[in-house]
Amino acid sequence: MSCVTDRSMPFWCVGNPLSDPFGGAVMDKISSVEVAKILAWAKGEKLIECTSFHDDDLVPWDPEHLEDDLDSKSSVSKTLHEIKKILDQAGIRVHVATCSLHGNKLFRNGGLCNPDPEIRALAARKVERTLRIGHFFGAKYFVYWVARDGFEVPVCTDWTQVYKNLADGLNHATDYIEKEHLTNYIGASIEPKPNEPRGQMFLPTAGHAAAFIACCLKRPDFWGVNPELLQHESMCLLNASMTAAFLCATGKLKFLHFGSQIKAQFDNDFPPLIGPEGLKETVFLFKTLQDLHWKGVVEFDCHMLRAEGEPGEGIARRKQFVRNCVEALQMAETLAERIKAPKLGSGAAAADLESIRQMCNL
Ligand code: GLC
Ligand code: MN
Repeated sequence: MSCVTDRSMPFWCVGNPLSDPFGGAVMDKISSVEVAKILAWAKGEKLIECTSFHDDDLVPWDPEHLEDDLDSKSSVSKTLHEIKKILDQAGIRVHVATCSLHGNKLFRNGGLCNPDPEIRALAARKVERTLRIGHFFGAKYFVYWVARDGFEVPVCTDWTQVYKNLADGLNHATDYIEKEHLTNYIGASIEPKPNEPRGQMFLPTAGHAAAFIACCLKRPDFWGVNPELLQHESMCLLNASMTAAFLCATGKLKFLHFGSQIKAQFDNDFPPLIGPEGLKETVFLFKTLQDLHWKGVVEFDCHMLRAEGEPGEGIARRKQFVRNCVEALQMAETLAERIKAPKLGSGAAAADLESIRQMCNL
């Protein structure tokens, strides 16, 4: 039995024209409306059920017009309505609304944890706007990804303020949800990451995030964690099965971000099962989730390999990318189901070889 209730493909993964720090875009840039149309196609093909977005994936943000979404005559409002019509007609649900606090250069030294109170206030207003946009789309979760809340030089970091500012920023989000009666949100989630874009980030692992929720936030029951498996975990050599089991045991596993990664490298964000590593760890992850009877949303958070992009073929390549991700997920689940319950506590090497035998039908 599949543990995946819904498959989500975010706007930022489909929209990506495949640039990296060493070179520019290889594919055509497409608008958020065009991304919505690709997602509608994917829903029609029965590949996905939902999507997610950063505010900036849908519409631009102008710090001079912090409430442009509320003005029905603004181009922002018009674009949001156009996208919603496409998603609604296709029957795509919105899983997550997340606030981009990493793209704009104003946030170069952090968003919610920025040492400058004026920038922190701006970040809070951007979060409010994102929450309103998410409400318009009926998003289920608000997500905080650590992004630029981090440091390179610890002696330049005001450690007396960091976690207080972070708690204030996240509590402000839930206060706003309550005050404005944004009842579409069934929860909020923290996505940890050890580094990149900052040298170090303030919530590097699922354990840090879970402890922070329990000890520092006003509404701990509302908050959970969405780990990014394999990428963010494998970057710091953590094991995906253990992270999933830990979050299940603490009741904090909200949903998964899913892709592939070479251990201890920069954030590869390879599509699932692609690349030289991670097949076994991915299959074992799903076996763990099946054994724990976890059921939930798997959201692809990965990107096409830059080498696979083809100028002029952007739409077709993007569609193939969505299909590949979904097929890889099915393969991982099928392989996990093949593994019969190994004798727990038995000779580790023998149990491991047996699982490979079953997985590969040897
Ligand atoms: C960025 C990150 C990704 C995260 C997303 C949500 O795209 O790379 O890991 O899930 O933002 O904020
Ligand atoms: Mn992610």
